[in-house]
Amino acid sequence: MPVTYAEVDLGAIAHNIRAVQNHIGPDVILIAVLKANAYGHGALMVAQTALQQGVQRLGVARPDEGAYLRANGVRVPILVMNYTSGRDLKTALDHDLLLSVTEDHIAEQLSALAEARGRPALVHVKVDTGMGRFGLLPDEVLPFIERLARLPGLAVEGIYSHFAVSDLADKSYTHQQFATFQQVLAALEAAGHYIPIRHIANSGATLDLPETHLDAVRVGIALYGMPRSSEVAPTVPLHPALSLKSRVARVRTLPAGSSISYGRTYITSRPTPVALVPVGYGDGYHRSLSNRGAVLINGRRAPIVGRVCMDQFVVDVSEAGDVRVDDEVVLLGCQGDASITAEEIATWAETINYEVTTGLLPRVPRLYTGDAHAYE
Ligand SMILES: Cc1ncc(COP(=O)(O)O)c(C=O)c1O
Repeated sequence: MPVTYAEVDLGAIAHNIRAVQNHIGPDVILIAVLKANAYGHGALMVAQTALQQGVQRLGVARPDEGAYLRANGVRVPILVMNYTSGRDLKTALDHDLLLSVTEDHIAEQLSALAEARGRPALVHVKVDTGMGRFGLLPDEVLPFIERLARLPGLAVEGIYSHFAVSDLADKSYTHQQFATFQQVLAALEAAGHYIPIRHIANSGATLDLPETHLDAVRVGIALYGMPRSSEVAPTVPLHPALSLKSRVARVRTLPAGSSISYGRTYITSRPTPVALVPVGYGDGYHRSLSNRGAVLINGRRAPIVGRVCMDQFVVDVSEAGDVRVDDEVVLLGCQGDASITAEEIATWAETINYEVTTGLLPRVPRLYTGDAHAYE
């Protein structure tokens, strides 16, 4: 067992997938979003768990992420959701990935590549209904689809958009975005363009707004058991899948007046028992947790004192009982009755739960546990 590792409970992920599947019903396709190494959980193991649960489509951000899954035997359709160009277009076609297109010159290159291979390239057209990020503006969609229809070797399998605030309690902007998307779809149908897979819902909309499910939903954060925001109550039961664990590397009582770590940002005001935790921002454990975060030792909280360094930091174990070298440290997850969630770490670090797990660097080995039916 390595000293520091992320433990990923595949049973929790399997449960979360089934919970989402039950919620959307059998007629809606679940696109399991596995980008950024499955939000830090490990793309291949999550993909295999998803496939075992009957998931038939996956979503990634970049062709290389899809190519990695293909190289490891994943055969289901994989949608690349980011802008793709240059060498990545060939990677995508080599690995039979579905691309998101919004630009004529990219569509023309794809058409030429697909023609040369003698196999059509399937694409999804991305529409910007109010995210202001990637996608065609609503008025641009119909003429674009008409130009695509004239390109040989290209077939539009899907059309989609993305919500900006579906995770919040106030759904008014989300309703507005959905209405815009429906107008785009209606205009396409009126012009005789029928696109088989229409999708817009992410986790927030999938869980809270069934009317937005359309043909498919793209779900990320919910599969990993994390709440989409603190504003809305859970509508389906989800279990967090990832824990971050390490071991105490040193225990000492420092005299009053001792300074701890770089920058001397913490000075003990009394003799203080402290433990060294061999984890740092080189693992993706944020430096902004310095003097703010806490870990669990002996099922109790031990606050971080001083700066989080690249590979280690110090905690005050005054309240943690009898602490010894090699005792388990839980940085994220449960220990006894106590727990630290990704949301709590996110609050300390002034970020979101997504970044807490996604930010775990490759240096942290992922260990997989759990059986698919553990949460039934
Ligand atoms: C285009 C797109 N669809 C779906 C998702 C999944 O979102 P969530 O993790 O909130 O379900 C993302 C993630 O950011 C995304 O960028």
